[in-house]
Amino acid sequence: MPVAKVTDIAFGRLQSPDLDQAEEFLVDFGFVRAERTKDALYMRGTDSAHYLHVTHLGEPKFIGFAFYARNAEDLDRLSRVEGASKVESIDAPGGGQRVRLKDPHGFQIEVVHGIAPLAPLPVRRNVLNWGPEKSRRAGELTRLQAGPAQVKRMGHGVIATTDLGKTLAWYRETFGLICSDDVWVGEKTNVVSSFNRCDCGDDFVDHHVFFTMKGPNAGLNHFSYEVRDIDDVMMGHEHLKKKAKYQHMWGIGRHRLGSQIYDYWCDPWGRVHEHWTDSDVLNARTPPGLAQAGVGTFAQWGESMPARFQTYAIR
Ligand SMILES: [Fe+2]
Repeated sequence: MPVAKVTDIAFGRLQSPDLDQAEEFLVDFGFVRAERTKDALYMRGTDSAHYLHVTHLGEPKFIGFAFYARNAEDLDRLSRVEGASKVESIDAPGGGQRVRLKDPHGFQIEVVHGIAPLAPLPVRRNVLNWGPEKSRRAGELTRLQAGPAQVKRMGHGVIATTDLGKTLAWYRETFGLICSDDVWVGEKTNVVSSFNRCDCGDDFVDHHVFFTMKGPNAGLNHFSYEVRDIDDVMMGHEHLKKKAKYQHMWGIGRHRLGSQIYDYWCDPWGRVHEHWTDSDVLNARTPPGLAQAGVGTFAQWGESMPARFQTYAIR
């Protein structure tokens, strides 16, 4: 039995040496400022979560990410894990409670509960005349507004690890994550990466909330955020490209494992942030998958994963 079963990913936490520069990138990426203090920046999306991305002022550093607890009792249980903090009040907008844990590489993984939600923000309407419903926009023209994508919510966190077995066991046993797809190379027992989702019983959840891959170094591979739809991925891409100051990592394409349409961009300190839309959703009844790594494993269309991203790890 896992210690607890988390219900979703909540936010990513980074440290950056310049909050103005950090905010400029995050706004261009599609977040909206929830709050900024002299040493911390909280960014939200259009859904009701108070924040999805936290930046602290300091040397560039990947601190960790946070999951949502099902209830306060689960926080109590998690606080008894070796090396975990006590249940503590969160000193940030929206309040709430948390437990801080250290994963096998020492990254801070928080589990939070009771953060006050905000009113959702309006999402630009985009009605599509496709599939069997050809006249959903009868008489109406599509005119997309240029500008950043609209981030809705956080989708997943990805960590490169030097010890895949230990890392996977820890995340699964501590947070109740279950396997969506393991990926192997050479022989089936040689698993090199793994997609994991929340166990919410019969409720359908994203194909993965946590992905981890074996590499020479441990670190953040990327944070991932859901946007409205494929037009939002494309318009977001155009916006970031037009700025001509951000490094593009990978995309646009459609994943195989998880099926999301994706696009990956680096922030000014090389931390990769992904836009995605249209994920597979599974429930606890879907059996685990086992896929062979190779051409087409990570993209059904679009370019293959760049070599440098395969074990990309930033600390
Ligand atoms: Fe991703």
